[in-house]
Amino acid sequence: MSFSKLSLASLITSAVAVCAQTYPTTNSSISNGITIADLATGASCACTRLAATFGDLCLTANSTNYTAEVMEYWDIRSDLLPKCIFFPADADQVATAVSTFTSCGAQFAIRGGGHMNFPGSNNIDGGVLLALNHLTDIVVASDNSSIAVGPGTRWVDVYEALAPYGLYCIGGRLKTIGVPGLELIGGFHYLINKYGFAMDNVLSYDVVLGNGTQVVADATTNTDLFWALKGGANNFGIVTKFVIKALPIPMISSTIQAFNESYAEDFIAATVEMTQNNDAEIGAGSVVSIQYNATTKVVTPSLLGVQEGTESPPSRFAPYSRIPSLQTVNNVSTPREWHKNLDTPNQMFRVQFAHKTIKPDTDQLVKIYKAWKDAVDTVSDVKGLYPTFVLNIISKSTMTVAKENGIGNTWGLDDDQDLIIWQLSTGWDNAVDDLRMTNWARGFLDYWHAENQAAGLASEFIYMGDAGEFQEPFTGFPLKNVQRMRQIREDVDPLGVFSRLNWGGFKLGN
Ligand SMILES: Cc1cc2nc3c(=O)[nH]c(=O)nc-3n(C[C@H](O)[C@H](O)[C@H](O)COP(=O)(O)OP(=O)(O)OC[C@H]3O[C@@H](n4cnc5c(N)ncnc54)[C@H](O)[C@@H]3O)c2cc1C
Ligand SMILES: *[C@@H]1O[C@H](CO)[C@@H](O)[C@H](O)[C@H]1NC(C)=O
Ligand SMILES: *[C@@H]1O[C@H](CO)[C@@H](O)[C@H](O)[C@H]1NC(C)=O
Ligand SMILES: *[C@@H]1O[C@H](CO)[C@@H](O)[C@H](O)[C@H]1NC(C)=O
Ligand SMILES: *[C@@H]1O[C@H](CO)[C@@H](O)[C@H](O)[C@H]1NC(C)=O
Ligand SMILES: *[C@@H]1O[C@H](CO)[C@@H](O)[C@H](O)[C@H]1NC(C)=O
Ligand SMILES: *[C@@H]1O[C@H](CO)[C@@H](O)[C@H](O)[C@H]1NC(C)=O
Ligand SMILES: *[C@@H]1O[C@H](CO)[C@@H](O)[C@H](O)[C@H]1NC(C)=O
Ligand SMILES: *[C@@H]1O[C@H](CO)[C@@H](O)[C@H](O)[C@H]1NC(C)=O
Repeated sequence: MSFSKLSLASLITSAVAVCAQTYPTTNSSISNGITIADLATGASCACTRLAATFGDLCLTANSTNYTAEVMEYWDIRSDLLPKCIFFPADADQVATAVSTFTSCGAQFAIRGGGHMNFPGSNNIDGGVLLALNHLTDIVVASDNSSIAVGPGTRWVDVYEALAPYGLYCIGGRLKTIGVPGLELIGGFHYLINKYGFAMDNVLSYDVVLGNGTQVVADATTNTDLFWALKGGANNFGIVTKFVIKALPIPMISSTIQAFNESYAEDFIAATVEMTQNNDAEIGAGSVVSIQYNATTKVVTPSLLGVQEGTESPPSRFAPYSRIPSLQTVNNVSTPREWHKNLDTPNQMFRVQFAHKTIKPDTDQLVKIYKAWKDAVDTVSDVKGLYPTFVLNIISKSTMTVAKENGIGNTWGLDDDQDLIIWQLSTGWDNAVDDLRMTNWARGFLDYWHAENQAAGLASEFIYMGDAGEFQEPFTGFPLKNVQRMRQIREDVDPLGVFSRLNWGGFKLGN
């Protein structure tokens, strides 16, 4: 039997009334069946209850560990000050926390690996932070076909666990990126041309819904929710376990190449060529970036390339290997060895990611790159400026995976068009420059995207993982997919817990 929307809503409302007696509220707004206390009142209610039940698993402000925990973010802009931080030890405790938030009307944020650099997507000033750090179970299936992973894990932990079995999976390209982010928003890995995005490799999600119920979503159970979680982000519930397809890839062939500025245009041309010639026969992909030091005026294009198997140098990167490099390091190693060297320390800087998507076109990308250098020069006085121009490749065959796996994903990209994401990743030191740098990136993007539109080269696709907080990824999804997600959200979260109490990150809108 299931509660109707109405009776559940009144249940929750009376629970809030109980909570309100202990913690006299100021004002609350009631709508969509959920009662939202004001920020301080809701957080006091939830923090007090969680601390009473779970003791040290709930850290209150200014304790030593609290101070360290609020800096467990990649982007310094994300260091906010929650009223308390709760570290659930298992899925049942996640469910208890969600019920507590609902009955207190407490506003909360969820943190996995803490890498999304959208301030407030994974933290909340004055509210409750649900930090998934302790949910680190990792179990390789006895038939070696999959791995079950908790949302407190980093990709390096997953690759480490798979290594003894000669297995690999599609996840983050660097070391310490969190598992849940990529599995819920998409996930660019090196081998996507053959195996699809990280989300396409999720076989099942264990989810705590807004009413505290725990469900499994997979290809046979709760199939709508299964589809919606593949790119639908934190709009439906809290995932407490991901089952990911394991791939028999014991060894990978890597190439690291750095070039002189004089070859920047050849480097961009090589990237376009690789995008258009990277079919699914061999899994291969990259991290492609151009760094510009606005002080020394030194430009450094660089490639991190990975191909499955042991062919060395990896043949798929021939377009780059033809360009004279300053430095090239080829190697054959286990995936674990490769990833463990790719650290990206937390708290390196304040940082703005922002991007648009284009059909592969060398001339246009070279124009944008040159314009970007000029634009960087206009902000060269910004302290700690750390500008990088990044190109993320999506070859057609990447999209074919979701088209043919019987499930698809919420992006709904067709496999008739290669795409390249052009991204500004810009770091700086001081908060006083936040608005300036955000507007700088935004203005640059908008102008060049309009140029690309005029030239018939633009794609409206936006990837949440690399988006600025001012961007709107859902507007780049097919409208019918967004409508379907909103319907699914209505079915699984009729109270609106994940749209009203948890409002950070990219939301579907009310
Ligand atoms: C240095 C760096 C390298 C990157 N490299 C890559 C890359 O190679 N490929 C790629 O695709 N992307 C990459 N990204 C982008 C990355 O995909 C996003 O930052 C992603 O959100 C990171 O996941 P996380 O778990 O660390 O993030 P978090 O910020 O913890 O989570 C992301 C969002 O998901 C929500 N969330 C977290 N856990 C759960 C859960 N269990 N249930 C429901 N909601 C949850 C959070 O509230 C937040 O809104 C990179 C980012 C950085 C900073
Ligand atoms: C609550 O709302 C009422 C009516 O809008 C207002 O008069 C009152 O001052 C508010 N109280 C607080 C504590 O905000
Ligand atoms: C604080 O952190 C230390 C080191 O990680 C840990 O051993 C300890 O249990 C933590 N204490 C609390 C109260 O969380
Ligand atoms: C934590 O410390 C800050 C700065 O010292 C202070 O403003 C704040 O009131 C403290 N919070 C609590 C809950 O003690
Ligand atoms: C799983 O992998 C391990 C290590 O390679 C191997 O010993 C074992 O036989 C494999 N199991 C199956 C069912 O293939
Ligand atoms: C890069 O190329 C320029 C000329 O094209 C040359 O002057 C410079 O020395 C080169 N830099 C390096 C590091 O090789
Ligand atoms: C090359 O791979 C081996 C393992 O195969 C590893 O020990 C070594 O550190 C790697 N070298 C570089 C430069 O990455
Ligand atoms: C630019 O070069 C200067 C001098 O070598 C160095 O201090 C600074 O860190 C560099 N900046 C970037 C973004 O690499
Ligand atoms: C919780 O919500 C789900 C989805 O709306 C519903 O199927 C289930 O019956 C609810 N459980 C309870 C106990 O209300």
